Amino acid sequence: MELLKECSTATLSDDEQFAMLRQVIDDYERRESNLIQILHMAQAIFGFLPEDVLHFIGTEMDLPMSRIHGVVSFYSYFTTLPRGRHSVQVCLGTACYVRGGKKVLDSLKSEIGIDVGQTTADRRFTLEVKRCIGSCSLAPAVMIDKTVHKRVNPNKLQEILKLYE
Ligand code: FES
Repeated sequence: MELLKECSTATLSDDEQFAMLRQVIDDYERRESNLIQILHMAQAIFGFLPEDVLHFIGTEMDLPMSRIHGVVSFYSYFTTLPRGRHSVQVCLGTACYVRGGKKVLDSLKSEIGIDVGQTTADRRFTLEVKRCIGSCSLAPAVMIDKTVHKRVNPNKLQEILKLYE
């Protein structure tokens, strides 16, 4: 899986990515009971699950698109939109919310020009919201990739974002 994640960073051509996906589908014997695993692998290969990839899986596995869309939309792990190089997760759990998390989120939205769930056009950031990231005593907290930034306030944001190109 890790290897596939590295491969997904655009080092493979489209044809190579689809050939790899076909191999995955073969390895899972085209069984509907393996659809979730196949979708996981597809997301590892492509980085997300665009419509043409879902269509490919449907055709190869002889499954209706409604079945595939149903699974993809049920699990929040799956994403049909491209993700940014950096994942920005603003905590809006109770402690963070009451200590200004919402203001931080609003400032972030205007700073990077996107809404929650979106990715910047340059694929630099994807903006998300979390319910608690385990740093309640140092709220409000924002996690960028694997780093938790604590006691964040809107004035600190520019400085923090500069760390992530
Ligand atoms: S509520 Fe934000 S870290 Fe716990």
